[in-house]
Amino acid sequence: MMFKSAAFFALIPALTALALPHPQPKPARAPGHISIPLRKREVGSGLGRRGNGNSSSSPSISNGTIDLFDWQETRWVGYIDVGTPPTTFTINFDTGSGTLFLPGLDCGNCTGHHQWDPKTSSTAKNTGKNTTSAYADGSQVSGAVWTDDIYLGGYKIQNQTILVADTYTEDFGFASDPSDGLLGLGFPASSVNYTDSAFFNLVNQSGSGLPEPVFAFYLSNQGSELTIGGTNKDLYTGNITYAPVTGAVKQIWEVEVDKLTLNNQTILSNFSGIVDSGTTAIRANETLVSAFYQSINGTSLGGGSFVAPCDQLAEQQISFIIQGKEITMSFESLNLGTFSAPNGTLYCLGGVVGDAGLDVDTWILGDVFMKNVYTIFDAGKARVGFADLATSVDSL
Ligand SMILES: *[C@@H]1O[C@H](CO)[C@@H](O)[C@H](O)[C@H]1NC(C)=O
Ligand SMILES: *[C@@H]1O[C@H](CO)[C@@H](O)[C@H](O)[C@H]1NC(C)=O
Ligand SMILES: *[C@@H]1O[C@H](CO)[C@@H](O)[C@H](O)[C@H]1NC(C)=O
Ligand SMILES: *[C@@H]1O[C@H](CO)[C@@H](O)[C@H](O)[C@H]1NC(C)=O
Ligand SMILES: *[C@@H]1O[C@H](CO)[C@@H](O)[C@H](O)[C@H]1NC(C)=O
Ligand SMILES: *[C@@H]1O[C@H](CO)[C@@H](O)[C@H](O)[C@H]1NC(C)=O
Ligand SMILES: *[C@@H]1O[C@H](CO)[C@@H](O)[C@H](O)[C@H]1NC(C)=O
Ligand SMILES: *[C@@H]1O[C@H](CO)[C@@H](O)[C@H](O)[C@H]1NC(C)=O
Ligand SMILES: *[C@@H]1O[C@H](CO)[C@@H](O)[C@H](O)[C@H]1NC(C)=O
Ligand SMILES: *[C@@H]1O[C@H](CO)[C@@H](O)[C@H](O)[C@H]1NC(C)=O
Ligand SMILES: *[C@@H]1O[C@H](CO)[C@@H](O)[C@H](O)[C@H]1NC(C)=O
Ligand SMILES: *[C@@H]1O[C@H](CO)[C@@H](O)[C@H](O)[C@H]1NC(C)=O
Repeated sequence: MMFKSAAFFALIPALTALALPHPQPKPARAPGHISIPLRKREVGSGLGRRGNGNSSSSPSISNGTIDLFDWQETRWVGYIDVGTPPTTFTINFDTGSGTLFLPGLDCGNCTGHHQWDPKTSSTAKNTGKNTTSAYADGSQVSGAVWTDDIYLGGYKIQNQTILVADTYTEDFGFASDPSDGLLGLGFPASSVNYTDSAFFNLVNQSGSGLPEPVFAFYLSNQGSELTIGGTNKDLYTGNITYAPVTGAVKQIWEVEVDKLTLNNQTILSNFSGIVDSGTTAIRANETLVSAFYQSINGTSLGGGSFVAPCDQLAEQQISFIIQGKEITMSFESLNLGTFSAPNGTLYCLGGVVGDAGLDVDTWILGDVFMKNVYTIFDAGKARVGFADLATSVDSL
């Protein structure tokens, strides 16, 4: 699933209407200028370069670590290599969908993105078919279906289906979106023709050297990482609490949430939570979300987004209890950007967003949620694990 932060900028007219000054996305950066913070990398990680559509002589071997770079703390991207010789692309890794797409040479609306020319890869094969991949936020991509070898965290995945997009809706073309394409980490049933999700493809390929059929996310404002083939024990502490993926046909990483508490009071019990790295916010039934912001003097900006006085938002303790484990949202994670009203009140753009398409029993636990806990996606046992962030890295 994809709910991207372009919406943040779409809110600016709404703020003008409320006579509130324009928000400062954090960290403040010059408008229109996107800089990917090239943080210092650990020795041995081979993924330091920005995908530039150029061939490199060898794949980015990193033994399972994909460094993620955050973009205005609302979206995290990293690199994969594609084809022979390998070409590096900047990718949004999305647990809420299953297809891999890259912009093709004929793509529209993708200015600023690196396009893939399958003819430059000796292992690329055209299936002769076209397909479309549509996302829950209404965005979609269409194009030819190819297969090629790709490298995910250094692991080679043979014969991976790649949608080479020629039609690319504007939301994906958002000029300063740092990602070229998207790699779905959902189950095969969420991919092109329900068969070919990259990570599951890798798990199936004997001789890949993958230690475990597991990947894990650590999302923060620095040092973020997607680990392929296991967990990174430096990033979490204590036991892992696992929740089985629900549903007869597994598509995405949906688990049962025991309870949601607000300031230690139970608001909701026994509902479904979709752990979705491809969505920025926590998204929930708009009626519920609206009531929450009303209780803290919040204001709707339309489209499900709300602002609230930061001091009041900061007092709210929102916790999800999953398999008995309490996961509490930090104020820092709930604040997607601050700005001052003319009367001096400091407002925060809330990380919990209303969605008119969701019933009360389905929550999308996006990046705002994932920043608060180490998340482990176990493809072998179809379960999601949650562990406390290591205090040494807990810099939220
Ligand atoms: C990756 O693993 C291989 C085999 O275990 C090892 O030889 C190599 O040094 C490792 N590379 C890095 C960058 O850690
Ligand atoms: C490939 O790299 C060279 C040198 O870094 C650069 O001048 C060129 O524009 C790059 N090509 C593409 C397609 O990005
Ligand atoms: C796929 O799309 C291309 C471009 O629109 C078109 O030329 C081609 O005929 C299509 N192929 C199939 C099998 O539909
Ligand atoms: C590649 O995958 C497709 C389906 O995704 C399958 O039909 C084909 O046989 C595979 N080819 C090889 C060489 O594994
Ligand atoms: C560009 O985006 C618009 C709006 O989403 C869409 O209608 C159009 O098909 C896109 N054009 C191309 C060439 O992808
Ligand atoms: C998907 O499967 C159907 C039925 O087997 C087939 O006709 C179609 O060509 C497939 N599409 C792609 C993109 O592989
Ligand atoms: C993995 O292998 C099993 C058994 O051969 C097969 O049924 C399944 O479709 C494969 N899945 C993928 C994603 O290749
Ligand atoms: C982790 O689990 C073990 C075995 O179930 C238990 O003995 C231990 O107390 C747990 N540790 C923590 C920190 O919860
Ligand atoms: C919720 O309960 C915990 C433990 O009893 C307590 O430390 C915390 O202050 C409470 N939070 C609120 C907002 O009441
Ligand atoms: C905030 O909301 C509370 C409860 O709805 C209300 O009592 C209070 O007057 C409001 N404060 C401001 C500054 O609007
Ligand atoms: C400050 O201004 C905002 C927006 O103009 C308004 O909604 C809010 O009630 C004001 N707060 C106070 C304390 O006057
Ligand atoms: C909220 O959830 C209720 C019950 O599931 C549903 O009837 C309603 O349409 C939803 N409304 C909005 C605005 O999200």
